[in-house]
Amino acid sequence: MKKGFIFDLDGVIVDTAKYHYLAWKNLANDLGFEFTKEQNELFKGVSRKRCLEILLEIGKVEATQEQFDTWMIEKNVDYLKYIENMDASEILPDVPKILDYLKDRKHPIALGSASKNAQPILEKVGLLSYFDVIVDGNNVTKAKPDPEVFLLAAKQLGVNSSDCLVFEDAVAGVQAANSAKMISIGIGDEKVLSEARYNFKDFTEIDTNFIQDLINKN
Ligand code: BG6
Ligand code: MG
Repeated sequence: MKKGFIFDLDGVIVDTAKYHYLAWKNLANDLGFEFTKEQNELFKGVSRKRCLEILLEIGKVEATQEQFDTWMIEKNVDYLKYIENMDASEILPDVPKILDYLKDRKHPIALGSASKNAQPILEKVGLLSYFDVIVDGNNVTKAKPDPEVFLLAAKQLGVNSSDCLVFEDAVAGVQAANSAKMISIGIGDEKVLSEARYNFKDFTEIDTNFIQDLINKN
């Protein structure tokens, strides 16, 4: 049975976490409070709606439904300005090395992201054609750590869940992959991502022999 490879987007393929952070920080400042980089860690892998709920809890801000909806839009409009000029230079190091290795061997590749901006970002950085399947925030109803996004990706790839490997930088994403009974590969701080089956600081630490060993298993 072929193995399927599922990549998260933000923080795995591109470092968009910094742009999400700036847009949330701008909104917090407009609402009269500070939002720190440490607090931004809580936002990784988390849906836009849930991020705003957490932000308002941090700032102790009460919102009507109308205000909530307006701020969701405002944050995204601001974020879109930050990502407008993204290009291939923002692909994280050695991501293409792994994508090329998998593509050359015809392994199915999916994106499994919480973001509703995933497809335009992949287009901007020129990686869209690598992906056989894209499952993002537009296709799911339950956010990570719920496994829905990865289970749907496996289904669309036509690969058993247990034959899928997931690259993730968020705790919620690692938990989602584990719940889906997939092999989780944490990208980032191994202390933060301790629940992942394997851990790497970034893709420069991943040797293609390691990928091949995973492919050969079972
Ligand atoms: C995830 C990010 O990939 O997408 C989160 O890690 C973000 O920080 C979420 O909130 C939703 O993104 P978007 O682009 O739909 O606002
Ligand atoms: Mg991520």
